[in-house]
Amino acid sequence: MKLGILTGGGDCPGLNAVIRAVARRSMLRGYEVVGVREGWRGLVEGLFEPLGPREISGLLPRGGTILGTTRTNPYKTDAVDRVLENFQKEGLGALVAVGGEDTLGVAARLYKEHEFPVVGVPKTIDNDLSATDYTFGFDTAVFIATEAIDRLHTTAESHNRVMVLEVMGRHVGWIAVMSGIAGGADMILIPEQPVTVEHACAELQRRHDRGKDFSIVVVSEGYELTYASGERRGVAQNEPDQFGHVRLGGVGEELAREIEERTGYETRVTVLGHVQRGGTPTPRDRVLATRYGLRAADLVHEEKFGRMAALHGDAIVDVSLEEATAELKTVPKEWYDVASAFFG
Ligand code: F6P
Repeated sequence: MKLGILTGGGDCPGLNAVIRAVARRSMLRGYEVVGVREGWRGLVEGLFEPLGPREISGLLPRGGTILGTTRTNPYKTDAVDRVLENFQKEGLGALVAVGGEDTLGVAARLYKEHEFPVVGVPKTIDNDLSATDYTFGFDTAVFIATEAIDRLHTTAESHNRVMVLEVMGRHVGWIAVMSGIAGGADMILIPEQPVTVEHACAELQRRHDRGKDFSIVVVSEGYELTYASGERRGVAQNEPDQFGHVRLGGVGEELAREIEERTGYETRVTVLGHVQRGGTPTPRDRVLATRYGLRAADLVHEEKFGRMAALHGDAIVDVSLEEATAELKTVPKEWYDVASAFFG
C-alpha cells in the first residue's frame, strides 16, 4: 500500500520526528511512503515526493518540516474534488495528516463526508487541541519562552524596569501560563481570564510597594486589553487566512504603554514571535512526536481511519478526529490559579 504524509498549518518543532516515525514503521511493514508537499495544497495541486530511508535520515532533531507547510483550506477554495482526484491518481491508500485544528478539521470533514482514509497527529505550539493532554511542539515553545523570561529577569533587575513579554498561543493562553509559571512571571494576561488593565497595574504596584523594583509581565497574543469599565480593546488585525484566522500580535506594545502611563514604571516590550516555533525540538517533544508517529502508522495499518493519536496521562491512545477538532482546549482556571499565586 502507498501511504501519504502531510504537514499543515504553522510549522512546529517535532514535525520531522513524526515523519520519520511514520515512515520508519510503515516501510518496515512494506508500505511505500510518499510525502505530500505543503499541507493540503499538495493534494489540491498533486505535489508529491518519495520518502525513503535516505530522505528520512537525520530528521529526529531537525526543526521545521521537510515537506513544507501552508494554511491551504480545500473547503474554502472548492478544491475538495481535486484532493480526492489527486489522492487517487497518486495511488495512495491512506494519509497521515499532521496538524492543528485547521488541518485536522479538514481531515475530519473529508473522513465524515467521503470516508477518506485519514488518521491525524496533533501538532501545535498553542496546545489548543481537545481530546489530547498535549500536542507536540508545545513543550519546545514553553522552553523557549521560559528562557526568554529568565533572560528578561536579569536585565529588568539591572534597570528597575517592567518587562512585558508577548508570546504566541492564538486564542488560548497555554504558552503564557506555562512559561509564566516556569519563569516566575509577576503578572500573566491570557484570553481565558479577563483580568483588567487596572488590576494588572495594581498588582505590579503592590509588588513594587513591598520593595521589588522590577517586574515581568507575560501577555498572550490573543489577550484583549480589558478595562474596569467593561470596555475591551483588541489591536488592529490583518486579513484572515483561508481558515478565517486573523494574524494576531501587538497587544504587548499597547499593554506596555498602559503600564508605563498608569504606574510611572519604565516599561519595555519583547515580542518573541516565530522564535517560539523555530529550531530543534526539546527531548520531550522528540519523544512525544515519535510516539504519535508510531501510533499513526499503527492506526493506518489497522485501518482505523478518522482517528487521531492522542496523549492521555502517560499513554498514547486514539480518539476521533471529530472530537479532537470540535472545540478549542482552553486554559482551565486551576492552571491560572497556580500562576496567580505569585502575582503582586
Ligand atoms: O498556531 C501557531 C501559531 O504560531 C500561533 O501561535 C500564531 O498566532 C500563528 O501561528 C502565527 O501564524 P503565522 O506563522 O502565519 O504568522
